[in-house]
Amino acid sequence: MLPNKVRVVEVGPRDGLQNEKTPLDAADKIELIHALADAGVTTIESGSFVNPKWVPQMASSEEVFQGIQRKSGVTYSALTPNLKGFERALAVKADEVAVFAAASEAFAQKNTNCSIAESIERFVPVMEAAKAANMPVRGYISCIVGCPYEGDIAPQKVLEVTKTLLDMGCYEVSLGDTIGVGTAASCQRLLEVLGAEIPMEKLAVHYHDTYGQALANILKSLEMGVATVDSSVAGLGGCPYAKGASGNVATEDVIYLLNGLGIEHGIDLDKLIDAGNAISNRLNRPNNSRVANAITAK
Ligand code: HMG
Ligand code: MG
Repeated sequence: MLPNKVRVVEVGPRDGLQNEKTPLDAADKIELIHALADAGVTTIESGSFVNPKWVPQMASSEEVFQGIQRKSGVTYSALTPNLKGFERALAVKADEVAVFAAASEAFAQKNTNCSIAESIERFVPVMEAAKAANMPVRGYISCIVGCPYEGDIAPQKVLEVTKTLLDMGCYEVSLGDTIGVGTAASCQRLLEVLGAEIPMEKLAVHYHDTYGQALANILKSLEMGVATVDSSVAGLGGCPYAKGASGNVATEDVIYLLNGLGIEHGIDLDKLIDAGNAISNRLNRPNNSRVANAITAK
């Protein structure tokens, strides 16, 4: 059965912009975040407090958080790999943070320079500090069905990491198909394994559209009871540690799907399309949302 309401987590300003080649200054990012909030988006991942040598695109995250005019009811979240990242996020009053792990050892090494177990160990002080600061923590898992280095990933491995993150205190775990290789069948198999032990309301899906399967995978996930979907306006982004990965599924395309299904989401599609066109122009790249292109061309 489909959910009545879906929470859309906009990751464009982080997952999208972390991998765009055109350098943007903080003011451009702030303008995007304001436009997204104005369109009705209620969760905006607005930056990332990782080592700026690893991801220079996110080096201005402090400036971004300090510059945004916050709209009430909107959660401005940030990615934090370790305590140092958490402290940076806390200093600029991020509303929420996210820790990120992988279901693949090789990807964990490339992305965070450590094993899965070591990445989890780094989260322990983050969870403690977040608890003390009363800040919610989201968990991410990369490579939930496939890894660019290891190939197919067993659902059991994803289950193990998901349980660990929830047991540590993450309020939800976002399942990342980092290289977009999942299909409705493999996503269903994974959600069946997870759903046997974990309530669906603790899970979010984070599909990249590399193979054009993201909307099919989202529909399958909604049918299986997932009600939180990550997406990126204009399909911005990719992944610096997954060669050939395209951006997340475009938020505009997700909204069009939800509208067709009669599912509530609170986002104004026209305003969202304007936000996506503006950032695509600024980046001098095509808008990767099919819906945005079709509606803009009308
Ligand atoms: P490391 O090099 O192993 O870290 O990196 P370290 O602890 O040995 O420290 C090395 C240097 O980094 C030190 O500086 C630290 O101070 C500094 P130095 O003494 O050399 O001058 N450092 C930091 N600086 C600023 N902020 C910090 C921080 N931490 C250490 N937080 C680390 C380990 C995890 C930090 C590094 O590997 C890193 O930054 N990785 C980031 C990778 C990344 O951002 N990937 C993209 C996000 S994940 C993603 O996109 C997937 C997702 O979307 C889901 C999906 O689609 O799959 C979530
Ligand atoms: Mg991602």
